[in-house]
Amino acid sequence: MAKITASVFTSHVPAIGAALDLGKTAEPYWQPLFKGYEPSQQWMQDNQPDVIFLVFNDHATAFSLEMIPTFAIGTAAEYQPADEGWGPRPVPKVMGHPDLAAHIAQSVIQDDFDLTIVNKMDVDHGLTVPLSLMCGQPQAWPCPVIPFAVNVVQYPIPSGMRCFKLGQAIRKAIESYDQPLKVQIWGTGGMSHQLQGPRAGLINKEFDNAFLDQLIADPEGLAKKPHIDYIREAGSEGIELVMWLVARGAMADINGGNKPQVKHRFYHVPASNTAVGHLILENQ
Ligand code: DHB
Ligand code: FE
Repeated sequence: MAKITASVFTSHVPAIGAALDLGKTAEPYWQPLFKGYEPSQQWMQDNQPDVIFLVFNDHATAFSLEMIPTFAIGTAAEYQPADEGWGPRPVPKVMGHPDLAAHIAQSVIQDDFDLTIVNKMDVDHGLTVPLSLMCGQPQAWPCPVIPFAVNVVQYPIPSGMRCFKLGQAIRKAIESYDQPLKVQIWGTGGMSHQLQGPRAGLINKEFDNAFLDQLIADPEGLAKKPHIDYIREAGSEGIELVMWLVARGAMADINGGNKPQVKHRFYHVPASNTAVGHLILENQ
């Protein structure tokens, strides 16, 4: 049977992708940020998954205001990096895993979560920047990826609790797949940031670090946090953090297993307008 081996949580700041693609990682502004991901890239090499289930949000790239799926699972064989206005990022195309994705869709939909099935989608910085941070600049990404898009752009957005329970359904789906695959689940986006209005540039270190603490120790409690608390304390785009609850809900301890081990924790401000947070949790 397939197993969820670990969860990875990381911001997806588009400027990080630009810094990598333009060879700026050694510049003083960027160097401390990329240094924080060196242990993560080593960990990825030492703990190669067979598949990454990557929870991310599309930023009006593949989906526009014309069509807004709350939860969308990528069932395609491959996904091209999106052109977000200055050409696609020069990164490898993303190979999918249609068979596992179809199995997850079947299981999760039968578990009463209404997923949109996506057979064609270009993937934006929400998906490619986390891959770059964790895997560096390879010729090909190390394994297939199942993109799972959550609407955190246009209200109404799913609650933290709905995301957390969805993670539990995704765990059940993955661990009932009849192949011995090691699957990592990634929750991406965040941390505190606001890109518009009078509070543009907002960063809240206290909120972010308390969020990381509670994500590790008390995820059920964290799932009860209402949207208004994210908006007030972490800014309008801080709401991206609800996606981390999908990945956390899929970990073993939520289903009666052992607490995960914290393999790496990193926090850095600022990167562009955003606080960068990162965690690796390993199932025991
Ligand atoms: C920034 C952060 C984001 O999450 C995003 O999607 C776009 C821009 C930023 O900090 O600039
Ligand atoms: Fe974003």
